[in-house]
Formats: sequence, C-alpha cells, structure tokens
Amino acid sequence: EKGGWDSFMDKEIHEDPAAVSNTLLGRYDESGDLDLDEVHIDEEVFRQIDKIIVVACGTASYAGLVAKYAIEHWVRIPVEVELAHEFRYRDPILTPRTLVVAISQSGETMDTLMALRHAREQGSRVLAICNTQGSTIPRESDAVLYTHAGPEVAVASTKAFLAQIVAAYLLGLYLAQVKGTMYRDEIHQTIDNLKAMPAKIQKVLDSQAEVISQTAQRMSKARSFLFLGRHVGYPVALEGALKLKEIAYIFTEGFAAGELKHGPIALVEPGEPVVVIVPSARGRNVLHDKVISAIEEVKARGAFTIVVAEEGDPDAGRYADVVFWRPPCPTLLSPLVDVVPLQLFALDMARLKGLDVDKPRNLAKSVTVE
Ligand code: F6R
Repeated sequence: EKGGWDSFMDKEIHEDPAAVSNTLLGRYDESGDLDLDEVHIDEEVFRQIDKIIVVACGTASYAGLVAKYAIEHWVRIPVEVELAHEFRYRDPILTPRTLVVAISQSGETMDTLMALRHAREQGSRVLAICNTQGSTIPRESDAVLYTHAGPEVAVASTKAFLAQIVAAYLLGLYLAQVKGTMYRDEIHQTIDNLKAMPAKIQKVLDSQAEVISQTAQRMSKARSFLFLGRHVGYPVALEGALKLKEIAYIFTEGFAAGELKHGPIALVEPGEPVVVIVPSARGRNVLHDKVISAIEEVKARGAFTIVVAEEGDPDAGRYADVVFWRPPCPTLLSPLVDVVPLQLFALDMARLKGLDVDKPRNLAKSVTVE
C-alpha cells in the first residue's frame, strides 16, 4: 500500500507533483480559458460576488491564506480567511453576494461543516474545495471544486495542501475571467506557470532531500523552532511550523517576519533554530530585502538560520547556516515549492526521534467533533 515508502507521509509528500498536475487537469480548455462547468454555479452569480470568506481549519486554513494573496490581487475583491470554529460564533456579515469557500481535505471536519451551514442559513453561497468525493461538506455545499490529490492517509496533510492551493488559484482565475479583472493573456500565462510547477516541485524533492536530512540530524536535539515569512511566505511559515509540531512534537511558532521586532525576537538566543522563507529577489522585490534583514537580525543574536530561497538568489546565503533551494517561479505560486522542503524536514525530524509519522499522538485524520 505504501508502494515501497516506509510511511504514508513519505509517499504522500512524493505525490506533491502529481497532486498539483491532477488538480489542474481538465480545468482549462485548449485556448487556456478556465472551464469550471463542474461547479454548477451560474456565471452571472459569480460575476456578482463581491466578497469571499474562506472557512477552514489547520492546514486547510493556511491554503486559504495563500488564496487570499492571489485572489485579492487577481480579482480585486476582499478575501477574508477565518478559522471555521471562530467564524461560526461571531455573527459574521454574510450577504447573497458573499461567496463562502469551505476548504477541507476530508470533507468531514465538523467545525467547517457548522460554519458552512451557518453561511447558507444566512443566504450566502458555499463552494467547497474538497479532496474526498461524496463526503459531507461537498454534499451540503452549493458547489464543489474537487482537489485531485488522491487519498491522503497520513494524519499530517501534505499533498492535499498543495492541491487545495491549486484549486483556490483556479477559482481565483475563473473569477478574474468572468469579472474581466485580468487580461486573457495573463490568465493563460498563469495557467502555463501553474503547469510548470510539478516539475519544479519534483526538482526540490530530488535535489534537496540530502541537505534536508543532514540538517535534521544537526537539529535533532532542538527543543523549539521559529518559522518566519512574509506575504505568501507567511502561510508557508505557519504550515512549516504546524507540520513540525504535530509529527515531531517540537514546540514551534510561525509568524509574519515583520512581527519579529514586535515580540518574538525576544525568544532568539544562541543556537535557537529559525526557519525563514525568502521571497524571490527578482523584480527588485522590496520584501526580499526586508526578509534578508530579518535573517541578519536573528543571526546577530546567535540563531541557527535555515533558509528556503530561490535558486540564484545572491543574498540568501549571507546570514544562513543552511539553505534549502527551490526553482524560480512567480511569487504568488511560490508556496507550492517553498512548503515542500518543510514537509520533508518535519518528516526527517520525526523519524530521527523514532516516532510514528503517520499517526501522531492525540490526533485524528478527520475531526468529526466540534
Ligand atoms: C495538519 C492537518 C490538520 C487539518 C485540519 C483540517 O496536518 O492535517 O490541521 O488540515 O484538521 O482538516 P480537513 O482538511 O480534513 O478539514
């Protein structure tokens, strides 16, 4: 069943490229226009949507955060992302022009289900992004965009996260197409860029495994880790922190790099491991320099710095003890490559501690209680 891998998590991380390509498959026509007929919501209804609220839990909520950056940029409508269990109990503002997007791998998460029921009662439409055919969340939604990651067995979500991000991008591009907020050429170019991602993910898997496992060995005694990123690197930092805490039982915190000086830097003492997601240096990206300064700040206080950076970045190595390299790609798509080394790193750390990576203590694959 594990097809030669020693754990489902290992197998599923190696299915990241396929999860991305299968989720893209059949969602655009030959000309490169988005084709989401399967969603069964009238184009006119989509045209009227003036706000999106993503409701989800855990890893799925981080996919929603990535979607916020992309969809707000492409479609120019506000996208809120809310943990499903918080959303339900705060009297959220919902109208018939609000699209609620419920993201769930299992389709059975009770918190997310309660949130979508509430949204529908208030007259909003709910679109599910889900990996499990025929599960409760898509059945109770107005529409569903399935992720085609294939069954995910390991408790820690990996390939499904990438597929959720891809499905959310497809939704964003479709909205941009019906609302006319992007040029057709731009949409086609973005689809082409997405089609190029599986090979780039594969390259990370093939070329970085060695340095990642060596780094895990060096870090095997570490008691805590900080993860930081900005822009789309911020949800990647949150996800990297969650993976490591849930399967390796290490205390982690993920936060936006800009918050460093507002509190977390107090935690940095000599030897503290800090993982930093660096945005591309291309296009004179101001955030790139700000993140490099953040690495410098923590390095100056003795942190052990592990950096995820784009190949060719001239500054990434300057204050880094270790660099995990990933191929160049457009910034908005970069979470699809940046998260991969962090998945492998969590897996290696958990293995070194002799833990059952597929079944971490206290956790269940689908959380069917509120
Ligand atoms: C983390 C993880 C959880 C789930 C969360 C939502 O690795 O697996 O945080 O992402 O419980 O689950 P679904 O997507 O099934 O609604």
